[in-house]
Amino acid sequence: MVDTVVLAGGDALTEDRIDPSLDLYAEIERLRRERNAVILAHYYQDGEIQDLADFVGDSLDLSRKAAATDADVIVFCGVRFMGEVAKIVSPQKTVLIPDAEAGCSLEDSCQPEPFRRFREQHPDHLAVTYINCSAEVKALSDVIVTSSNAEAILAQLPPDRPVLFAPDRHLGAYLQKKSGRPMTLWPGSCIVHEQFSERELVKLKVRHPTAKIAAHPECPEGILRHSDHVGSTRSILEFVLASPAQEFIIATEAHIIHQMEKAAPHKTFIAAAGMDGSCDCARCPFMAKNTLEKIYLCLVNGAPRIELPEDLRLAALKPLQKMLEMSVNVNVPPAAP
Ligand code: 13P
Ligand code: SF4
Repeated sequence: MVDTVVLAGGDALTEDRIDPSLDLYAEIERLRRERNAVILAHYYQDGEIQDLADFVGDSLDLSRKAAATDADVIVFCGVRFMGEVAKIVSPQKTVLIPDAEAGCSLEDSCQPEPFRRFREQHPDHLAVTYINCSAEVKALSDVIVTSSNAEAILAQLPPDRPVLFAPDRHLGAYLQKKSGRPMTLWPGSCIVHEQFSERELVKLKVRHPTAKIAAHPECPEGILRHSDHVGSTRSILEFVLASPAQEFIIATEAHIIHQMEKAAPHKTFIAAAGMDGSCDCARCPFMAKNTLEKIYLCLVNGAPRIELPEDLRLAALKPLQKMLEMSVNVNVPPAAP
């Protein structure tokens, strides 16, 4: 695997040496201005990180922001593959990530060499790959998709070409069902979405009979079949805000509820639960690695920083650019009033 993260040097400021009396919010604000930095955050980030970000969005929104920003520095509060996407589409920018260890179970499940062999075993297939993968796997793919543009992109592919879909088998199965297009699926999954329990969901629905269920397509079919809405994080947010219902069961990483409670404080949002009935399983341990302290440190140290060999960047850019071109009309945020 190519290492795409440059760590801070030995003389860098470390967490144990941060002055405890420091106002971290003010310091991050000062550094953001000094460095001409933009802070991008995914909906799965802790509420305090979402609140200080310049922009919060789903994977497609964030890739578009990273491609369009005129800031010199992008601080990407999400997971590593998201920082890689920002660097691939905006190579002239410095891309910082608060924690180099913020990976993703989907990325881990699909290593470049086995994926290369998978492609070689299916030479006539198009490789449609979910954005939750490494830059190397992107470089081996024909087109990248996110959960918000996958259906639209699949519909534009030649109908006679067979398709490989990696790495999320649940999203792949959902897309197969929606599009009616058979696909050969890579057997990966997200450790967060896979843990939701159908039995616990049914119990919750019995206790909250008027609640609408909104789920991410990374969930297994047993969750999706009960859902009133299935879609990307932003589409889940839009669904709960537009719906006249007052109660919602949310089957995705629970930090998105922060945005829901801010935008609709009169509505009730219940996190879907895992096998043992607790809702802690709805927390992504990778996303949780980012903290206010680490955002401050990455701005001070200029690291952890994403750097990719140029040949890898160009190879990964091709299918990502295709994604951006094939989804220009998809999930465009409403214009500001
Ligand atoms: P979206 O924000 O595109 O729905 O992706 C969800 C996710 O799992 C990101 O890791
Ligand atoms: Fe990866 Fe799942 Fe975490 Fe998203 S929620 S970053 S898919 S492990």
